[in-house]
Amino acid sequence: MSTGKTPRGAVLFVCLGNICRSPAGEGVLKKLVTDRGLRDRVRVDSAGTIGYHAGSPADARMRRVASQRGYRLDGRARQFTSADFERFDLIVAMDSDNLDDLREQATLPHHHAKLRLLSDFLPADASRDVPDPYYGGVEGFEEVLDMVEQACDGILGELLR
Ligand code: 4NP
Repeated sequence: MSTGKTPRGAVLFVCLGNICRSPAGEGVLKKLVTDRGLRDRVRVDSAGTIGYHAGSPADARMRRVASQRGYRLDGRARQFTSADFERFDLIVAMDSDNLDDLREQATLPHHHAKLRLLSDFLPADASRDVPDPYYGGVEGFEEVLDMVEQACDGILGELLR
């Protein structure tokens, strides 16, 4: 979180429930930011397009797989609100449905300009969507982390550009 100085950039990861994919994005990018000594310049958060899980910790399966790779997912779920369009510089949706939901809530051109898909930061042959792991096995959670880890360097680069 902010250390008191004005952050240079703020990024919000968004998925459906804010308990699996977007907390993974938040955790991976926060570690990258910390490792690079950028904590006073970058703010990272996550949210869900639905409020069903609001107040819950990240899914235990996601936390376990993330912790095996050195990431701490210690936030609580919250629902995206239109105020987030003003509070963040970059809003990264995990899949096309999340992006469509965000587009429906974007009322101004500069809101639309902040929206990205995570796969915009992946090689062109990558899957367009980060698959929802909620109803599947552990390999789905590993795949989420694989995709997020691959994308985060580019996300940070765009944020600090
Ligand atoms: P997430 O995963 O969007 O990556 O947090 C899901 C979490 C909960 C549900 C679906 C997806 N759900 O249906 O409750």
